[in-house]
Parts: sequence; C-alpha cells; structure tokens
Amino acid sequence: MSIKALKGFKDILPDEVGLWQFIENTARDVFHRYGFEEIKVPILEKTDLFVRTIGESTDIVEKEMYSFEDRNGSSITMRPEGTASVIRSYIEHGLYVRGSVQRLFIIGPMFRHERPQKGRLRQFHQMSVEVLGSNSPGIDTEVMAMAWQILQEIGLHASLEINSLGCTACRPSFKEALQRFLQERIKNLCEDCQRRSSTNPLRVLDCKSEHCQAQYVSAPSIIDSLCGACSHHFQEVKETLNLLKVPYAVNAKMVRGLDYYTRTTFELLTNELGSQGAIGAGGRYDGLVQQLGGPEVPGIGFAMGMERLVMLLSQKKDRGETRSGSDLFLVTLGEAAYAKGFVLLHRLRSQGLRVMMDHEGRSMKNQMKQADKQNAGFTLILGENELANHKAPLKNMHSGEQELIDLTPELENWAALIKKKIGQ
Ligand code: HAM
Repeated sequence: MSIKALKGFKDILPDEVGLWQFIENTARDVFHRYGFEEIKVPILEKTDLFVRTIGESTDIVEKEMYSFEDRNGSSITMRPEGTASVIRSYIEHGLYVRGSVQRLFIIGPMFRHERPQKGRLRQFHQMSVEVLGSNSPGIDTEVMAMAWQILQEIGLHASLEINSLGCTACRPSFKEALQRFLQERIKNLCEDCQRRSSTNPLRVLDCKSEHCQAQYVSAPSIIDSLCGACSHHFQEVKETLNLLKVPYAVNAKMVRGLDYYTRTTFELLTNELGSQGAIGAGGRYDGLVQQLGGPEVPGIGFAMGMERLVMLLSQKKDRGETRSGSDLFLVTLGEAAYAKGFVLLHRLRSQGLRVMMDHEGRSMKNQMKQADKQNAGFTLILGENELANHKAPLKNMHSGEQELIDLTPELENWAALIKKKIGQ
C-alpha cells in the first residue's frame, strides 16, 4: 500500500508554488519598507514556553499542541505559533541591546492538531511579525496599516475588526462582571460556555452558538470597562487609523484564542472562505516579555495564514504571480549537435539564463512540444546542417518570429552571442 501524507498535512505542488512565492515576496518587500528584519527560530521548543505564553486553558494548549517526549524524556512541542519563540529568542540573545524598538518577522510552518477543514490544516504557514519595545498607539496603527498594505499589494480585500482587551488594571473587574452575568444564565449556555465561564470567561464571547450569542447581546462590554489609560490608547489607535484612512470596525466581542493579549487586538476577516474567515490576526501583549523572564518591554504583532491567502488568491483571475518558464530551449538533432548543445547549455546557465534541453534523443517535433510545455521564451535549433553552415534558427516562441543567427566556428563565443540576441 502506498504511503500518503498525514491528515491535515499538505504538499505544495510546483503549480501552486508561484502563488506562494508571489505572496511571500510581496510581504517581504512590504516588511522591508516598514523596517522589519527577518529572524529564524526553531520549530521545536520546550512545551513550557507555549503553556506559559499562550495560556493553560486555551484550546491550543489544552488540545491542539503536537507535544511529545524527546529521547531524553523532556517534553517538547512543535510550535503552534511564532510569537512565543520570537520572544524567547529576543530575551535569550538580548536583542533589546540592538536598539529600543525591534521589528522582527518570521515566515514558516506552524502545527496545531485541529480538525482539518477548508482553510484549516494541522501544518499551516504563517507570516508573523512582532514589534518589541514601544507602547505607542501609533505602533498599533502602523502594524495594522502594514497588514492592510500587504493585502492591498497582493490584491486581496479583507475587513479589519479591532477591539481592546484592557490591561491588568481594568480586565480583572470586567472578568468578574462577565462571570456574574454568565452565572445568572449558566443553565441556558452551551457546554463549552458553561465550562469556560470559570476557566476562561472572555472566550465565551466568541462562541459560535447562536443561542449563546443571543444572550450575550446584553453582556457587559469590555470597551465600557477600560481604565483611563487603556481607553485613551484605544481612542488614539482609532484616530490614527482614521488619519491613514484604513477602514475598520470596532467589535467589542472579539476575544483572541491566545491568553497573552492586552489592549489592542485585531482580526482581518473575509467571508469568502466559509467558516475559516480569519486571514490574519494579532494584537498587543504588554507584560509578556517580562513574564518570560525578560525586561519590561511591551510588544505587538500579528500573523497571516498563508494557506488562506493562497486560497483566496487562487479564486481570482487576475492574480499577480508570474508563471515560471525557461529563457531558452535548445533543440538538438544528432550526436554532434547534442554534444555542442550540452556545452552551450552549461555556459548559458552559468551566465545567468534558464536553459533547458532534451537528453532522450526525441524527435524535433517532440522537442518543440517540450519547449512549449516549459513555456520557453526562445528555441534554438542545432542540427548537422546548422553546424556545417554556422547558422542556426532562433525562434521567439511568443511572437513566432524567427531569425538565422551566425555561429562562429568557436563554441566559446556562442553563449555571449545568444544571450545578446534574446535580450537577457
Ligand atoms: P492566530 O489567530 O492563532 O494568532 O493565527 C493567526 C492566523 O494564522 C489566523 O488568522 C489564520 O489565518 C492562521 N491560522 C491559524 N490556525 C490555522 C490553521 N489551523 N490552518 C490554517 N491557518 C491557520 C497567532 O498565531 C498569533 N501568534 C499572532 C500574533 C503575532 N499575535 C501577536 N503577534
């Protein structure tokens, strides 16, 4: 029996890779313009890192992590997200000494043992950014504007929803008020909400059950419970988003699935992917660096799910990826031409051209077909006559134009000559 990939794990095949590269290159370009630097962190970390950051009573930690004992008996986990690892690295290597504000990004796979469905995988990829070292609401706006910019340049549209989850000064009293509200209705809530009302009450607010949601219409609002400083921060974020003309809606019921958030949180949503509508999400996490043993450094970031971006883009006709093709296909006929072609192939490639040829002794017709399939820009035909006459036809495969080019007797000169002819 043949072995298949694991459930929820997906191969990204050559035909799809163009879209992935387009998205990644566009994002990298935007990151660069916004002053972000790449950091690469390991996929495996100590389990404790995620338990302490994401939170013990979150779905991710309770039931979705790929955790196992390594050969030394210590518990390790395949990262379910990137923020915890970036902060661990930031503290471990004292990156704060490089400057008071660090702007970092990672691109790579994440692992969550969720039920696979459209747009939800067990191995998925995120582009994840973090800004460490600034309390300013302007940074919150900058980060959201950057996410917005990436989507614009990729050619996708999403709606931005924002909220504030307050801080250690104001959230506890909101939590208590919400718990009192939930207790009064506990019998009418779904099982999940009943359990969460004591373990993680804020999470009830994004319960999917319509019945629960109908009751939460009159639930206390986090925005009404913000302390003066958090309220002021949120106001500034909204005003600066207005200044930049980034459209948003406030959603006071948006709570995030990770416990580390404080103040500003946000999600980028689409209704084109069924129930998995979040194409990106993030927020502030002041206090997290300190909680992990680092200095008192505030932070904010977000991550975009690349599979979801690829899915959205593949539904569009006028998407921006370029189909990769070769610059030239060398059609050779006969042993002598094959030998010369083989040397030419190598020389042209070392001069920076993407060149292909046939090694199977196929007929001219079949070699031309291959050139077509590979989306070659040009073909050059080399046969006995061409070698004898020192002239070979170079065909522009897009325009159909053909030109006989002079080949000097010395093979050394051919590569430069052809390169010039095909305008590379
Ligand atoms: P998150 O909301 O858990 O946040 O994930 C961010 C994005 O990753 C989601 O909006 C979604 O597009 C994508 N995603 C999550 N799970 C899956 C899945 N199973 N399959 C496909 N895509 C998925 C975080 O991970 C935070 N670390 C974001 C952050 C960075 N906050 C601050 N800095």
